[in-house]
Amino acid sequence: MEYTAEKIRALKAEKDAVILAHYYAPDEAQAVADYVGDSFYLAKAATETRSQTIVFCGVHFMGESAKILNPSRRVLMPDLTADCAMAHMATEEQIKKLRAEVRDLAVVCYINSTARLKSLSDVCVTSSNAVKIARALPEKNILFIPDQNLGEYVAAQVPEKNFYFSGGYCPVHAHLTEESVLAAKAAHPAAEVLTHPECTEKVRAASDFIGSTAEIIARAEKSGAAEFIVCTEPGVLFELRRRCPGKKFYPAAPECLDMKRNTLAGIGNCLASGSGEVVLEEADIRAAERPLRRMLELAK
Ligand code: 13P
Ligand code: SF4
Repeated sequence: MEYTAEKIRALKAEKDAVILAHYYAPDEAQAVADYVGDSFYLAKAATETRSQTIVFCGVHFMGESAKILNPSRRVLMPDLTADCAMAHMATEEQIKKLRAEVRDLAVVCYINSTARLKSLSDVCVTSSNAVKIARALPEKNILFIPDQNLGEYVAAQVPEKNFYFSGGYCPVHAHLTEESVLAAKAAHPAAEVLTHPECTEKVRAASDFIGSTAEIIARAEKSGAAEFIVCTEPGVLFELRRRCPGKKFYPAAPECLDMKRNTLAGIGNCLASGSGEVVLEEADIRAAERPLRRMLELAK
């Protein structure tokens, strides 16, 4: 069946549903969403909705987090196979080994992780609150999972703590190299370089601003510059162009193909038939809820 934005709006009302979309979701998904934002904003939005059904246009860990934070709601995803490769890049063994070896240790889990990894952790973070939360924790030692690039970015700003890493990375952001950013700067010398902290240290060092997707958008709005090289997934250009119509944006990173699985057809199908439901065991919800709630508390 062919779905238009109008048809999706009618289905949303009929099914008492709300649509959440990450900035990396396709333009067509962002255009019909009730909430569009970064990972932190969307996690909070999931706790606040009164609608019976949440359609989450993101990757699987995001749908899981929405279900964990609002278990009485039905959470649907346009494509349940949309997964974040990095979400699996830490192991139970790594966590258990370090917990046994290092005293005064907190396991800090980037929200880009499976529910299982969250349940083994002390607190979750997103890229917009990781520095604040790492500083606020009472422990001297931190095992940061799974993203080593974000972890190293946080560690540089929290020098009073010792950091350990599990070695994970985002394949989309890791694709960007110092050379590719320098070449983009040479082609657009007046442009500011806006970079997500999931990028490597060398890419971050070649940048003018580092922040989460929401922070990148806020920076572009406030900045006096007229051109920007965008070192994160190019889905953010939809909101950047909407909010800054007079400014130019040059995408530097490749697309996250999993995020692009959230098509209008997929949204329509899951709304119409109830397919793509995120199902978690009660015990798994309870175990992963604690670090997510602690994040919401510490990020206030
Ligand atoms: P933020 O939404 O925190 O900017 O993270 C980006 C990301 O990679 C989500 O998958
Ligand atoms: Fe995961 Fe990277 Fe895609 Fe974000 S952009 S969902 S971190 S693979």
